[in-house]
Amino acid sequence: MRILVTGATGQIGSELTLELRRHHRDDVVAAGHRRPAADKLAASGPFVRLDVTDRAALERVVREHRIEAIYHLAAVLSATGEQDPPRAWEVNVNGLYNVLEIARHRGLAQVFYPSSIAVFGPRTPRDATPQDTILSPTTIYGVTKVAGELLCDYYARRYGLDVRGLRYPGIISSETPPGGGTTDYAVEIFYAAVEKRSYTCFVREDTALPMMFMPDCLRAAIELMAAPNGNLRYRTYNITAMSFTAGEVAAEIRKHIPEFRVRYQPDFRQEIADSWPRSIDDSAARSDWGWKPVYGLKETTAEMLRALGERQAAGCLYPSG
Ligand code: SER
Repeated sequence: MRILVTGATGQIGSELTLELRRHHRDDVVAAGHRRPAADKLAASGPFVRLDVTDRAALERVVREHRIEAIYHLAAVLSATGEQDPPRAWEVNVNGLYNVLEIARHRGLAQVFYPSSIAVFGPRTPRDATPQDTILSPTTIYGVTKVAGELLCDYYARRYGLDVRGLRYPGIISSETPPGGGTTDYAVEIFYAAVEKRSYTCFVREDTALPMMFMPDCLRAAIELMAAPNGNLRYRTYNITAMSFTAGEVAAEIRKHIPEFRVRYQPDFRQEIADSWPRSIDDSAARSDWGWKPVYGLKETTAEMLRALGERQAAGCLYPSG
């Protein structure tokens, strides 16, 4: 299967591209709106510069590379979206619309669409948030993700397009840093612990959000896309691995780095975090396609500190670019 990954220079896209390249012998084409920072990305297969809001350019890439499936990771995240809502709409909704239109016209086999816990909002139950519930986002990012889910449902029902998605929680990873999300503190805190032994956290100590470590995030996408279509009751699934407060991750880090100190200085992202679920019910994903996370807070913390510690020792804590 010849695959295109949009947003391939982003936090998830960069690692998903490498993972797909390990699984598929045919080309996995990485597309990003800037040159890849990760050398591995450019060295391991084709890379094209692409703005997903440019439908003609997207169509050209799909045609020239004879693409059969698109993993559409290009998106503006929640905190960045609040700085420029029209841009968030343009990229997140019109970008997806371009992908879906090209997919149906060219008869593509599959589309993957990452949704988010940001589809939920203050009127949604915050604990064990169900699969079927009130979607009442207060961020433009959440609004675009709800619109995206509905568009995907529509294309599946109306045109028979095999489009599948996951409502990802905050994603923690040691490679490409996230770009402007509300859950970014759960990544920044590890870099700060390794580098400075202190961190100023932009949400309160008692803020709890659902999270997932990158290997689970990648495996979830690959397993969902490989599941028999007939087993899927939904196009987009709730999914989670763990939930913890900012204070709890700090305490877990202190088991490895006892002198680590955190100050809490909430900013505008606190209100966004407060509008999202504390924990997620992902039983539909578990029963329909066998979802089961591997990494909890303890394993994630140990692995993050190991990976970042190794990079710091090698003099390159931050990925280049
Ligand atoms: N991690 C994302 C964000 O904070 C949520 O999907 O924007």
